[in-house]
Amino acid sequence: MEETETRISATTALDRASYRLAQRLRTLWFSGNYALTARLSPRTEGGPQPVRLPSWQAVNDDLGDLFRRDWQNIEAGLYRMPHDMWPNPVPVLRRAAHYFRDLEAVNRRKQARRGNEVSGPETLGRYPRYYLQNFHYQSDGYLSRDSAALYDYQVEVLFTGGADAMRRQLLVPLRAAFANIPIRSARMIDVACGTGRFLTFVKDNYPRLQVAGVDLSAPYLEEARRQLRHWSRVGLAVAQGERLPFADASHDIASCIFLFHELPRAVRRRVAAEMARILRPGGILLFMDSIQRGDRADFDPLLERFPHAMHEPYFADYIEDDLRGLFRERGFALAGEERAFFARMMVLRRA
Ligand SMILES: C[S@@+](CC[C@H](N)C(=O)[O-])C[C@H]1O[C@@H](n2cnc3c(N)ncnc32)[C@H](O)[C@@H]1O
Repeated sequence: MEETETRISATTALDRASYRLAQRLRTLWFSGNYALTARLSPRTEGGPQPVRLPSWQAVNDDLGDLFRRDWQNIEAGLYRMPHDMWPNPVPVLRRAAHYFRDLEAVNRRKQARRGNEVSGPETLGRYPRYYLQNFHYQSDGYLSRDSAALYDYQVEVLFTGGADAMRRQLLVPLRAAFANIPIRSARMIDVACGTGRFLTFVKDNYPRLQVAGVDLSAPYLEEARRQLRHWSRVGLAVAQGERLPFADASHDIASCIFLFHELPRAVRRRVAAEMARILRPGGILLFMDSIQRGDRADFDPLLERFPHAMHEPYFADYIEDDLRGLFRERGFALAGEERAFFARMMVLRRA
């Protein structure tokens, strides 16, 4: 491991207090936003009845576990404190106002069960049909700057403040990967990088690592460019996960976060095959997506209800899919698997 790239200063009691306070405020803020969203939104129709949802307390305790684990990793020097742990409150308030203004349109779509407004003659030739959805009844699907500006906030509300902490858990196997891969010459790619949140944590910890991010959405990449503007050695490009514009065996590390639940079954397999193609033998895939049925049995009713509450046409199939088999058949060996709150992490080695 190259010292200069990964030296992380020891934490102090003050850091711990600061982390705890920041995460408590974050949870309070986004849980409040979540509760208000639920109050302002129409009831979820359809789905399995009766619904035995887990208690708020059970979910909240699990979120607490995620933050405790995040802190332990930081304390152990596995990665740095979050670079934006104390965000400027003005943009946060602006985002909140934007989010609640937009919620009216989201709710209208939800009421009418209109989840494919973005599918039309203008877009059908340019994007795959499965992609042209208003996932979560979001305005403009993935196809506008407004949607890109709101996305991270929407995701944090959904996970009551835990989304970034879930993504950061992948920094642990990433660090382990650098035991065998020299950082200076390593090439990493984040497939479906969205607004680049994960890459900001990667670059904050490994500023000299060469990283690429690809996504089908140009506006999301524009937002990623904005979020990553302080770092160099970052390449961002519009590309489709099932047709990556890179040579065979050209990368050492790939990551793929919260993409597979938004893909039809056959496309998941094509993207996995494509990631296997561009990774060199021995290369590492860091995979994260929603937990699946049975990963935490008392959360199953939430998973079953989710595609009825939010427009998620492939989610019901995703939670049943055999991810281990899928990756095995495409040349990956499973090197680790864990749950972190609502995320399932898998570390896979290209055989
Ligand atoms: C739920 S978001 C996840 C984004 C990001 N990885 C994160 O951690 O927030 C899904 C992303 O996948 C992108 N996407 C969906 N299908 C894709 C495909 N076939 N190829 C590339 N990107 C795709 C979308 O544009 C969107 O940015």
